Amino acid sequence: MTRRFEGKRALVTGAAGGVGRATVDLLREEGAAVVGVDLREADGVRACDVGSPASVSAAVAAAVEEMGGLDVLVNVAGIDQFRRFEDLDLEIWNRHLDVNLTGPMLMSQAALPHLRASRGNIVTIASIAGLRAQPYQAAYCASKAGVVMLMKSLALELHADGVRANTVCPGGVDTDLPMAAAAEHADSKLDWGLLTETAGGRYGFMPPRDIADAVAYLASDAAASVTGAVLSVDRGTAC
Ligand SMILES: NC(=O)c1ccc[n+]([C@@H]2O[C@H](COP(=O)([O-])OP(=O)(O)OC[C@H]3O[C@@H](n4cnc5c(N)ncnc54)[C@H](O)[C@@H]3O)[C@@H](O)[C@H]2O)c1
Repeated sequence: MTRRFEGKRALVTGAAGGVGRATVDLLREEGAAVVGVDLREADGVRACDVGSPASVSAAVAAAVEEMGGLDVLVNVAGIDQFRRFEDLDLEIWNRHLDVNLTGPMLMSQAALPHLRASRGNIVTIASIAGLRAQPYQAAYCASKAGVVMLMKSLALELHADGVRANTVCPGGVDTDLPMAAAAEHADSKLDWGLLTETAGGRYGFMPPRDIADAVAYLASDAAASVTGAVLSVDRGTAC
């Protein structure tokens, strides 16, 4: 087994979820010290609301103190709720922006001094919904498209400091997120044919480990020349 992260220190958000857990496991298997945070406290996962500046500052400070610095930040936390546009109220819209877009911004800002010190990097999970539109997901699509450009902007701005910023855009992944979104609105008047066609459901759901593998590549020294990249892991859905 390769040990690409021996001596590296990583902080992963959304660590109680499917992709977050797989990412924590893979980084640890390859030698990293990892602190995982999530809104839901779980086994070994610390509490943090990525949409709250105070919560983010406290979580980053605690992780850096415990690990003695930071080499890799992985922004995984996210939410997705299907809504017809006329049912998309401001609270749901704001919540998507808070978690999916402001969260990675706050985490990246709080981590930046530590990543500058280590010449480290950021990997953020967006979605194919940030590259290709999906019906009933206006808030999700807008937040994920925003985070793609946030990471590209950081890549340019931080290049001179040796800090890289990259994005992974998954298609459908076998986790609670798409299942919960679908279950919540099973009796709504959504056109499931339209949704399935554009959301890539026709290609089936990938294991979370496939996304963790892409994160690990981008976070590793093998990707030393890769910054501002948007890596789709979607079985071709966004083509
Ligand atoms: N599952 C998919 O099909 C799919 C497809 C494309 C992109 N993604 C993205 O992958 C990422 C991981 O999702 P997943 O599939 O593992 O879903 P998941 O629901 O299993 O995990 C998401 C995690 O984020 C956490 N979270 C939510 N709000 C938070 C907050 N304010 N602060 C901290 N943590 C918070 C949740 O508690 C949960 O543990 C998300 O950004 C999601 O948008 C998922």
